[in-house]
Amino acid sequence: MSQTGGAMGQELAGKTALVTGASSGLGARFARVLADAGANVALAARRGDRLAKLADEIGARGVRAIAVPLDVLEPRSIGAALDRVGQGLGPVDILINNAGISREKWITDFDEADYDAVMDTNLKGAFLVAQAVGRRMIADKRSGKIVNIASVLGSSVIPMLSVYAMAKGGLLQMTKAMAIEWARHDIQVNAIAPGYIRTEINDAFFRSDAGQKLTARLLRRRVGEPEDLDGALQLLVGPASRFITGSVVTVDDGQSLRGL
Ligand SMILES: NC(=O)c1ccc[n+]([C@@H]2O[C@H](COP(=O)([O-])OP(=O)(O)OC[C@H]3O[C@@H](n4cnc5c(N)ncnc54)[C@H](OP(=O)(O)O)[C@@H]3O)[C@@H](O)[C@H]2O)c1
Repeated sequence: MSQTGGAMGQELAGKTALVTGASSGLGARFARVLADAGANVALAARRGDRLAKLADEIGARGVRAIAVPLDVLEPRSIGAALDRVGQGLGPVDILINNAGISREKWITDFDEADYDAVMDTNLKGAFLVAQAVGRRMIADKRSGKIVNIASVLGSSVIPMLSVYAMAKGGLLQMTKAMAIEWARHDIQVNAIAPGYIRTEINDAFFRSDAGQKLTARLLRRRVGEPEDLDGALQLLVGPASRFITGSVVTVDDGQSLRGL
């Protein structure tokens, strides 16, 4: 019995999946879902202690899981991480490009360091990881699936999350750009655009008064939980997405229908 209640059976048996930002929140959930579908999973992020704990937990589910140190702000660590995945699990078949940060600030208060941190983590880092994975898939003549974790803020904006929204908008364009260039290599590139999902990135906010007020304004007066993304993930990494590339699957409970 799968522990995430996955509807996929073992459709990913024998596949190698790399999840960036696997040390918490959505990334940790994605890794568990992929493992329950039979994939061997490489868990990548900066906080190695958390990755090691998750690798132990996932390893007990009957697939192989390894912790891989990765800082997407350090381009050299990306190649090293992929080498470790190759040695430990084999070449990457599935990339979940999920590492991300946000900084809440008015545009007038943004300094260059914060701007760079948000853009470099969410957009440049995601580009470099997908580029490195794509290059290896093409060189090895292996098909693959890449899922970029964007946001509903990739196509809408709210105050104080300007640079985050700019980076996620870029990530949606990157998804289409990679999909068109890599279609002939049988590499599918899609994105998930989540609405508000409760994780460490926003937990304190949603417990604050401002967070409660925002929740009350949402279409269905609730924020999501990481498992609410399971279905979109399973679709985009599994055989049912054979005819889907360059697409964005919005999973937001209708939050963006009347503005966020
Ligand atoms: N939660 C939401 O409501 C929501 C909505 C839309 C989109 N998203 C997106 O979903 C993704 C995951 O967010 P989350 O909610 O799960 O947040 P989270 O709990 O804060 O997780 C973010 C992950 O990114 C990793 N990370 C950050 N900087 C990194 C770097 N330089 N190199 C490698 N890994 C790095 C962190 O690991 P380390 O600190 O260990 O490196 C952590 O595992 C993000 O891209 C976020 O923008 C979230």
